[in-house]
Order: sequence, then structure tokens, then C-alpha cells
Amino acid sequence: MTTDLTVPTSEGITIPKMNILFTTDQIRERVYELAALIDSDFAGETPILIGMLKGSFIFIADLSRALTIPHHIDFMAIAAYGTGTSPSGAVRLLKDLSVNITGRSVLIVEDIIDSGMTLAYIRRILEARQPRRLAVVSLLDKRARRTSDVPIEYVGFAIGDGFVVGYGLDLAERYRHLPYIAQLDPSQGEENETSA
Ligand code: IMP
Ligand code: MG
Repeated sequence: MTTDLTVPTSEGITIPKMNILFTTDQIRERVYELAALIDSDFAGETPILIGMLKGSFIFIADLSRALTIPHHIDFMAIAAYGTGTSPSGAVRLLKDLSVNITGRSVLIVEDIIDSGMTLAYIRRILEARQPRRLAVVSLLDKRARRTSDVPIEYVGFAIGDGFVVGYGLDLAERYRHLPYIAQLDPSQGEENETSA
């Protein structure tokens, strides 16, 4: 399925062509499957779901509503230095949790794992707080680009190494609102990425 979103805007920015990778229905079905696994693995516990801002905000909202076990919600924000499709790799903590996770069951909720550097950093700082149990669910897994060998307990979809947007994922803050996941057309290159 191809959606031609090529629109010359008033700022002269060309919105790149995209191919839909996962439709709204496919995402919904997979989110319910993940929720069923998490429901059974965490039965009898009340895990804290930690949404990694901003990319996971839609996924965590849907996952939370698909779970039947009781759970709490909190958020963390990490910034990767660099923008656009090629972050430099360095990460820093922008917003910490508002709850103590010591002795608690914790489920990190991520939009996408690329190099794995962000997740390795988060796992390290959260493990240091001695949760009872720490697991990760990521909607997308770009495993071909992994440089950091970090465990991911639950994966929605494994994808190739193209750049994807929608369902929370952005390109320079654009396209987070799309109700599907689309891949930027590689033939368009990165010169379209002109917004700040
Ligand atoms: P990592 O540290 O290389 O694993 O980077 C993970 C973060 O990079 C994600 O949480 C996203 O914010 C961002 N990212 C990586 N790949 C994509 C993509 O294809 N689309 C949008 N954001 C991405
Ligand atoms: Mg993210």
C-alpha cells in the first residue's frame, strides 16, 4: 500500500512518500496479542508500565487498555543527541520516573529499538534501582541495526532498517499522529528532511 503524501508546503518543505508497513487493524491485533502474553506472564502482579516519551505515548495508551491485569503507568524521557534519521548514539535522561520502582515489577514500553543504545542505558539505570523484575516490550524491533546486545522480552513486529513514522514515531516531530506505521520511501533520500 502506498500513500503519496508528497505535498510542497508553504515553507517549501517536501513531505516524503511513504509506504504503509502496518495498518491500524494489524497494529491493534498485535497489541492485543502482546497484552495477552503480558497478562499471563504478570498474572498476580501489578507491574508499573514505563512509557518512554515521546514515541511510546500511543502504544502505551493502547497496550494499557488491552491489558486485563492491574497496572500502574509512569513515564521517562530520554534524549538521543542528534536529530532526524541518524542520531549520534549518545543518550541523556530528560525526565525521570515519579515513583520508586525498588521491589516492583516493571515493564518498559518502547516504540522502537534501533541500535539498542537507548534501551541499554535505560535498563542499566533502572536495574540499579533493584526492581523485583524488569522486562521490555517494544512495538518495533529494527534488529538488523542492533549494536548493543540488549534483551527485549516482547516484540510487536521485527522490521528492516528503513525509517518508519506514525503511531507515535516521528521524523523531526512530524507524523506521530498517523494511525498506522509507514516507512519513508528510500528513493526519496534524506534531503527531504529539512524541518528542525
Ligand atoms: P536506539 O538507541 O538506536 O535503539 O534508538 C531508539 C530510538 O531512536 C527510538 O526510541 C526512536 O526515538 C528513534 N528511532 C529509531 N529508529 C526510528 C525510526 O525508524 N523512526 C522513528 N524513530 C526512530
Ligand atoms: Mg523512543
